[in-house]
Amino acid sequence: MKQEFPLPTLTRSARGLLIEQVALGDVAARFGTPVYVYSRAALTDAFNTYQHALEGRQALVCCSVKANSNLGVLSVFAQLGAGFDIVSGGELARVLAAGGRAECVVFSGVGKSRAEMRQALEVGIRCFNVESASELERLNEVAAGMGKTAPVALRVNPNVDPKTHPYISTGLRSNKFGVAFGDALALYQRAAALPHLRVCGIDCHIGSQLLDPAPMVEAACRLLDLADRLAGEGIHLEHIDLGGGLGIRYRDEVPPTVGAYLAPLLELFEGRPEALFFEPGRSLTGNAGLLLTRIEYLKPGEEKNFAIVDAAMNDLIRPSLYDGWHAVVEVAARDVPKRTADVVGPICESGDFLARGRDLAVEEGDLLALLSAGAYGMSMSSNYNSRPRAAEVLVDGQAVHLVRTRETVESLYALEYPLLSSQL
Ligand code: LLP
Repeated sequence: MKQEFPLPTLTRSARGLLIEQVALGDVAARFGTPVYVYSRAALTDAFNTYQHALEGRQALVCCSVKANSNLGVLSVFAQLGAGFDIVSGGELARVLAAGGRAECVVFSGVGKSRAEMRQALEVGIRCFNVESASELERLNEVAAGMGKTAPVALRVNPNVDPKTHPYISTGLRSNKFGVAFGDALALYQRAAALPHLRVCGIDCHIGSQLLDPAPMVEAACRLLDLADRLAGEGIHLEHIDLGGGLGIRYRDEVPPTVGAYLAPLLELFEGRPEALFFEPGRSLTGNAGLLLTRIEYLKPGEEKNFAIVDAAMNDLIRPSLYDGWHAVVEVAARDVPKRTADVVGPICESGDFLARGRDLAVEEGDLLALLSAGAYGMSMSSNYNSRPRAAEVLVDGQAVHLVRTRETVESLYALEYPLLSSQL
């Protein structure tokens, strides 16, 4: 039976919507709105499905920190033995602060600074996913300055079409990511010759919200082919990192299960010596979280109706940026007629919508839950319009843990200075 909500631990009850055993109405009363709410059970299950599918293999599941970088969420994964995929020194600091182990961290990204390289070398991360010839030289130089050897993989651009939104496809020749497939062999030879680098792997990430495993299998075949050619040159890899990308159900998408997604890949790797790394983000956290918001006003319009809520595009930018679709669910059942409305925020932009044309049985003051918001929700939030960022809570059975306090307005300008009267 298809479950009602994409968030598996969300259910209806006489107390309204429950996440695990906690009523969302109680969360709003206690912490205010807007508030991101995550389910520990859903996070744990999502991670464990990867672990189970990879049982008996030499594998490392590196949670992609960019999807959800809250310390509470990261600490759940760290405790489950996860690795982490990071893209900045800031994300590395978060992983360590959440109890993650540096030796399970892979560092991707096209623009690593010298300071970030030093920080990562200092703590001893597992691997740098290097994305250009210049980065290779810089990393060697930085490692030399510290008397260290940097573990490297090249992020190779396999030039496959992931068939997803153009903003989130990354493995095409036209994208800025990775090194060209045709240049990889020569770059590996260069890396092997540099004294402060140790070649340990190969990496790719072709895009996000993939609903078909075929492009991933195609990319993996290209990587294996290259790994075999490298072995012929005496360069033996310890691991192959296939990145993240597995999609989730937002609306009516039918993504492959983790098992079905990994099965053809595991078949390809049968009998191979390399360990297998993955960097899932959305498929670990996306459907483990929601954004809870309250309706400030119902505004009937000439052409359409608006439900104006206290969350906005600064809290969840996916609808405005990618036409992302998030289910909107009434927290309390109400005996009022359904009205079709756009769910919009208080920000001064027409692009400030969270959902459009939804049938809602609501009154002013009611709570709405925007589902599938656990990935690229809070982590992409901003302070646009000087809006303090939302609080975040992590539900665990009957317990609710505050994992980020709502920002105060003062904190928004705490780093700013008006000019002194003598300067004006
Ligand atoms: N590894 C690398 C190198 C990545 O660039 C990404 C995501 C991931 C792993 C995780 O991918 P996932 O498993 O989450 O698909 N903000 C967009 C998604 C951007 C994805 C960027 N890279 C969205 O909200 O749809």
